[in-house]
Amino acid sequence: MRFRRGMAYFAAIMGIACGLCRCAGDVPQHDAGAGHVPMVQGLPDTVTFADVAPIIRKHCTGCHRPGQVGPFPLISYQDVRRKAKTVRKMVVGRWMPPWPADTAYSRFLGERTLTARQIAIIAKWVDQGAPAGDTSGLARLDPSAWAQGGMPPGMGPPDAVVWLPEPFFLPGDNRDRFIITKAPFELSRDTFLRAVEYVPGNRRYAHHMNAAMISYAAGAKKDPGKGFAYIDADSTKSLDAYAELGLQNDDGSWPLLTPNMVNYLPGLSPPVYPPGIGGYRIARQGAFLLNTLHFGPSMRDTVDRSRFNLWFGRVPPERPMKELFLGTLGSSPVVPALVVPPDTVMTFRTSMQVPSDISVLSINPHLHLLGRSFLAYAVAPSGDTIPLIRIPDWDFRWQFAYTFPRMLHIPGNSVIQVEVVMDNTAANPNNPFSPPRTALAPAGKHMRTTDEMLQFFVNYVDYRPGDEAVELGQ
Ligand code: HEC
Repeated sequence: MRFRRGMAYFAAIMGIACGLCRCAGDVPQHDAGAGHVPMVQGLPDTVTFADVAPIIRKHCTGCHRPGQVGPFPLISYQDVRRKAKTVRKMVVGRWMPPWPADTAYSRFLGERTLTARQIAIIAKWVDQGAPAGDTSGLARLDPSAWAQGGMPPGMGPPDAVVWLPEPFFLPGDNRDRFIITKAPFELSRDTFLRAVEYVPGNRRYAHHMNAAMISYAAGAKKDPGKGFAYIDADSTKSLDAYAELGLQNDDGSWPLLTPNMVNYLPGLSPPVYPPGIGGYRIARQGAFLLNTLHFGPSMRDTVDRSRFNLWFGRVPPERPMKELFLGTLGSSPVVPALVVPPDTVMTFRTSMQVPSDISVLSINPHLHLLGRSFLAYAVAPSGDTIPLIRIPDWDFRWQFAYTFPRMLHIPGNSVIQVEVVMDNTAANPNNPFSPPRTALAPAGKHMRTTDEMLQFFVNYVDYRPGDEAVELGQ
């Protein structure tokens, strides 16, 4: 639950460590040649970049630009031309843009999918030699239209930026690192936070990050910056780490904490909801507590200096966001216990009863490498099925938070069901081990990418009549 909590939560949130990694090869695992160009009537005889650019800008440039997850930019004509053949292959094979959710099962905001016509246009353009044509009518792309991080252009630049106070030195010893650290801040006054985004300094090695927010009551802490250090989470107990970070109030008591508030996974943008829905109160003095900052193995010495971008809200968060957390480390068990022996394909389930009527805003499925498919739905007391998400071909590289176009009402006493297939055979191209080894979620330890887990997060507000009509787009 994303409420202000005290001390008790400090220990609990430490459990929300997990590892996402993109290190098992850069090539999409699927046979990209499998797709075919859709037959579409009425395409222009000559397709030029003027026809292609709007598609690329809308669906590709968000990730394919400097500082983002895409391995090369797709902004200018030259950028796209240089990659024309692979671009064709990726869009025809439907591997790019990445959108693993089945749009025939449920719909979400910002779906990254191309229409048959858009795919046909790109294919025809490449087949005709990728001509520039007349691009004078093309609106100039204004790079400042993109906020500095990965937020949609409409958000504008952040209202405040909170840096981690010191660069982190990542030695080139080819080891995973799990770090606990904090980014203290002092604003001019208590205010409201509409959205917050974590921007890693070094995207190459930033695997995931989970942060809570600490709020100091007026006068409780003279200097939130005191006691700063990067702490190795593998060798320090969390409470010792929090004391070493100097998180306590000046009188030794613990400040208020909003757990699990900011997450980073490659390709994930934080959800932004209409004013008054979700959002947070943010105290004048506080800190982001990065209770897991996971760096992947690096072969050479490097540094990271990350930051948080903050967008303030004009109105108080009237309907606070709450969270159901199913599966590994969450409040519902995985059945059978999540152990995947070598050379098996197994189905795992987890389910949870919804205590009262809720309005779901977004959901976030999470598995690691052995995941094959993911299905989640709710069964209402009436017997009706409410589809949530179906991912027929799980790809651990794309762990999105999926936001519904409108609030989704789930009646009280419905049961949320999650059904996952894990494939620990040699036939799974993402299998990190050859020959396969037993995979499980080790208790009390940080999860590495090669461990397995099954999690499903449901972000909601308490239901009010009429919520079904509330649009969640910006
Ligand atoms: C959500 C972010 C995202 C979006 C949106 C996106 N890409 Fe990518 N793209 C990536 C990432 C990340 C990779 C690298 C793949 C990897 O690391 O496995 C990639 C790889 C590629 C590659 C190289 C694949 C290879 O095997 O060499 C091409 C080509 C590509 N993207 C084209 C596109 C096109 C065209 C679009 C829009 C239609 C697009 N991408 C949209 C993130 C994105």
